Amino acid sequence: MGRMITIKALKYNPNSKVSKAHFAKYELEETDGMTLFVALTKIREELDHDLSFDFVCRAGICGSCGMMVNGTPKLACRTLTKDYEDGVIQLMPMPAFKLIKDLSVNTGEWMDGMSKRVESWIHSNEEPDYSKLERPIEPDVADAVFEIDRCVECGICVAACGTKLMRPDFVGAVGLNRVARFEADPHDQRSDEDFYELVGDDNGVFGCMSLLACEDNCPKHLPLQSKIAYMRRKLVALR
Ligand code: SF4
Ligand code: FES
Repeated sequence: MGRMITIKALKYNPNSKVSKAHFAKYELEETDGMTLFVALTKIREELDHDLSFDFVCRAGICGSCGMMVNGTPKLACRTLTKDYEDGVIQLMPMPAFKLIKDLSVNTGEWMDGMSKRVESWIHSNEEPDYSKLERPIEPDVADAVFEIDRCVECGICVAACGTKLMRPDFVGAVGLNRVARFEADPHDQRSDEDFYELVGDDNGVFGCMSLLACEDNCPKHLPLQSKIAYMRRKLVALR
């Protein structure tokens, strides 16, 4: 028999006039290799059918299951309960995103706004010719673009960011990483001046206080701080 663990989950429905924020406490037996996703699913199936949280892939790929675990943002499907030695785990929804209910937040709406803000698409003056293959780029350049492009939009870097708490309109490490992705891609013909227009302010690349929590917590281990520093060095020359 596994040890008993305690999960305290914040429950609140912002769409209900009678809902009051409170922690619900659940006791359950830990199983081998139990992740928070498994624990929450067990709770929802056996103890509380009303508990809301998000997941899709259960493999750290879709980016839907971000939540605060004992105060640190993490993917629930990649977090093992055995790593919490005293067996007590407190779960809260990630800050900075609109709360849907309990542990479920609307990261999609925020990511959509960020994508529009940084114009997250290839800008080119060339007329696309769909009868031809895309213009090839050097393999090492392609590798560099794909490396930055591994972001799964989980929002953990945003939830971990002290700057974001101080500046609600801060585009976050995910947004600045996205700018770096297009800057690195030769298919995108935007100039440094164009990128400056997008993120050359305190809600963009000059707002980051280099607190490092984005990179420390990113589940895909993206080099967020070096990408932000690179963009800042490029754009500071235009100030
Ligand atoms: S940069 Fe990392 S932490 Fe931020 S949204 Fe992308 S994968 Fe998640
Ligand atoms: S469920 Fe997809 S990343 Fe956790």
